[in-house]
Amino acid sequence: MLKKFEMHYPIIQAPMAGVTTPKFVAACAEVGILGSIGAGYLDGEQTRNFIQEVKKLTQKPFAVNLFVQEEPRIDIDVLQKARMALQPYYDELGLSPVQSVMSNEVFEGQLQAVLDEQVAVCSFTFGIPSPEVIQRLKDKNIYVIGTATTLEEAIQVEQSGMDAVVLQGGEAGGHRGSFTNPMQLIAREDLLQHVVGNITIPIIVAGGIVSHEDVQRALAGGAQAVQIGTALLVADECEISPLYKKAILQSKPQQTTITYAFTGKAARGLTNHFTEHMKDAIVAPYPLQHHLTSTIRKESAAQGNPQYLSMWMGENSHLVQPGTVKSIIEKLV
Ligand SMILES: Cc1cc2nc3c(=O)[nH]c(=O)nc-3n(C[C@H](O)[C@H](O)[C@H](O)COP(=O)(O)O)c2cc1C
Repeated sequence: MLKKFEMHYPIIQAPMAGVTTPKFVAACAEVGILGSIGAGYLDGEQTRNFIQEVKKLTQKPFAVNLFVQEEPRIDIDVLQKARMALQPYYDELGLSPVQSVMSNEVFEGQLQAVLDEQVAVCSFTFGIPSPEVIQRLKDKNIYVIGTATTLEEAIQVEQSGMDAVVLQGGEAGGHRGSFTNPMQLIAREDLLQHVVGNITIPIIVAGGIVSHEDVQRALAGGAQAVQIGTALLVADECEISPLYKKAILQSKPQQTTITYAFTGKAARGLTNHFTEHMKDAIVAPYPLQHHLTSTIRKESAAQGNPQYLSMWMGENSHLVQPGTVKSIIEKLV
């Protein structure tokens, strides 16, 4: 992988939908790790433009990450109750409830952009893409990576014909890539131990990796590479809001939580008013809840109020330190 993708270090910058920008991805690639575009929330045209912007900034290969689509089963009663649970937040922020919640079918457009632009790597989360999708990528010589959170899922990724797997430990920031029930939170080192020897494709380990020792243990345990999210969120080149960066840098141990409240899918982020008060509320299935809370998150950001914002970060957020991508990576290797 290192040679093929011109990487100096066995490190992948985690794809982070809604966070990654062309400048950030290119900066990571230039430092010698594999940069990844988190394209999950982009449509086909936006994905194509993003890829072209990165290509203007770097000659290095990079990855595009897509969400495997699932059609939510719409239960009108649940949707109504989920809307009612959010009403106090719409009221407090002076917003009208979201009326239309259906997303457009965008996956085909994203995939076509990846194929046309001959991106080096395409990674997936939230499941296994269809055999046809995997074949179309392979026909273009694109390296395909899946995400697994259990041994069972890792075996499914291998059996689907994908080239490598990201093992996402329970410590990881952002959405769980889980696609089998029940959703499990297995610590990354335990997960690696369960999986090594049971599959033959390369393993990339993710979740709470913030130190040189973390990287060493993953590689010694049988991983070919590691994937880093939170430690790079605080990099100078990462263009998240100062509010978000400050929240990561000031976070304390045990201050992250797994919540369904923002999107309807389990994700790890900073505990705040919204995650606490929505703990027992009815939420619509993903991606409906994501659309229902979109105006709340936007307005909360506009008002500089961190209490209703989804601030995804891993369990070890309190250990990360600011710096350039280069300085952060050099401390890890
Ligand atoms: C802000 C944020 C957004 C994320 N978005 C994605 C995504 O779009 N696709 C994906 O496969 N993983 C995503 N992840 C998960 C990462 O790939 C990875 O599993 C995680 O960052 C590793 O844990 P760490 O943040 O403790 O390093 C995201 C993580 C964060 C923190």
